[in-house]
Amino acid sequence: MAIITLEEDIMHLRASGRILAKTLASLEERVKPGVSAEELDELADELIQSEGGIPSFKNYGSKGNEYPCAICVSVNDEIVHALPSKEKVFKEGDIVGIDCGVSYNGLYTDSAITIAVGDISPEKSALLEVTKKSMHAGIKQAKPGNTISDISKAIQASIDEEKYGIVRDLVGHGVGYGVHEDPHIPNFWPWRGNGGSGPKIVEGMVLAIEPMVTLGDWKTVTGKDGWSVHTEDSSDSAHFEHTILVRKSGAEIITQA
Ligand code: MF3
Ligand code: CO
Repeated sequence: MAIITLEEDIMHLRASGRILAKTLASLEERVKPGVSAEELDELADELIQSEGGIPSFKNYGSKGNEYPCAICVSVNDEIVHALPSKEKVFKEGDIVGIDCGVSYNGLYTDSAITIAVGDISPEKSALLEVTKKSMHAGIKQAKPGNTISDISKAIQASIDEEKYGIVRDLVGHGVGYGVHEDPHIPNFWPWRGNGGSGPKIVEGMVLAIEPMVTLGDWKTVTGKDGWSVHTEDSSDSAHFEHTILVRKSGAEIITQA
């Protein structure tokens, strides 16, 4: 679990987050019908390196099964971790999740957005709103004295589960000195009673808060490529993620411009 208190590390973490925020903003502008996910990946790689950062997803994973790209590009029923390719060309009405990680001087940040391609259906548009709102509800609870369950419960409470599915198989996580660290941060909280509150949140924790929400069920399937995760019922899905640093007064969002 990364607990970052050294002022120098905090500066590097902020620089890492700024590079990531700028990169995602440029990618967002580029998303149009006819553009391919591979083009976005190349652009991300270039932008991150031109700022002195390293695309941290590239080569991440177990030996022999490393992730090959700088970003994940997950379209419509793909939830997360989908590979960019030349063949993955955006069309009007799609929703495109872009997930990106940066390391800068050893400090890691992680962030994701979901973008509309041209005009999208009212249902998809509401899904994007609900997912983003739930991320911010979670971020508000990331303050000293609370527990991880307060983040999870706030995310869950902000989503109408009659209308939307909250993905359970994938969760938020600690970040800062590595791509993934403890603790797990579920986007729902079914546990009660003894020990059912998760770790205490303390100043200096670096957390990636990332709800994944669907227009159907929460169940997931991993694709043949071993990376992409999509909804079992083929319903559309959205994902937003920020890296935050826990300060005395609450969460500082690290991955925004
Ligand atoms: N942001 C992603 C997550 O937290 C990290 C993906 S790593 C990759 O799950 F190797 F799959 F890209
Ligand atoms: Co993440």
